[in-house]
Amino acid sequence: MILVIGGTGTTGRLVAAKLAAAGRQARVASRRASAEGVRFDWYDRGTHDTALDGATGLYLIAPLGDADPASTMLPFLDLARRAGVRRAVLLSSSAIDAGTPGLGEVQAQLGEMITDLLGRPVRHRAVDEDALTAYHEAHGLAPDYARFLAGLDTAVAAGSEDRVTTTVADVTGRPARTFRDFCRDRLAGAPCAADA
Ligand SMILES: NC(=O)c1ccc[n+]([C@@H]2O[C@H](COP(=O)([O-])OP(=O)(O)OC[C@H]3O[C@@H](n4cnc5c(N)ncnc54)[C@H](OP(=O)(O)O)[C@@H]3O)[C@@H](O)[C@H]2O)c1
Repeated sequence: MILVIGGTGTTGRLVAAKLAAAGRQARVASRRASAEGVRFDWYDRGTHDTALDGATGLYLIAPLGDADPASTMLPFLDLARRAGVRRAVLLSSSAIDAGTPGLGEVQAQLGEMITDLLGRPVRHRAVDEDALTAYHEAHGLAPDYARFLAGLDTAVAAGSEDRVTTTVADVTGRPARTFRDFCRDRLAGAPCAADA
């Protein structure tokens, strides 16, 4: 059984659906999981054993808004290993290093593309790192995590994501779509990337 942490969220929901469609047993875990899922809270150790019972694999998203996720996740991973988990897939980010504001030009170009496809204007507005940090804080993130997230956009603007990889093809066996094709498919009501 695969334990899908954050299985009610944006990515976990899709992972759980994909596993079910592939005939794999998936257990959705979150603080407010439905009756078919299991209650799991990163910060409530008492929820961990039940969630891991029978699990051989894990889909992992880090505890949200936590600037030091390792101190919570590493003990859990130890526990998971002892409970029989042999494989874990972590939703991470490759934009962890470096520094400067916003996604800038990339977002501007994407705005133009979406405007073109939607037929109504979508504009990019540049926001510097301090403003983005303040925005995240105003929306409830802890100050250090707000600064960390804003810093990731700064790193992206500095080029930390400027590369093309073969990962999609390597993992799925089909070539990656362009962003334009992705938007067009979504607008046409096609299944999202995780279903393709
Ligand atoms: N979405 C992306 O494309 C993407 C890409 C790269 C990295 N990330 C990273 O992945 C994380 C978010 O992933 P997401 O977008 O899939 O999730 P999301 O839509 O933000 O949903 C969060 C999920 O985690 C659960 N959750 C929140 N707090 C929890 C806690 N203390 N213990 C257990 N479960 C908890 C939520 O359910 P409950 O509220 O019921 O607990 C929900 O299922 C962030 O760290 C983000 O930076 C996301």
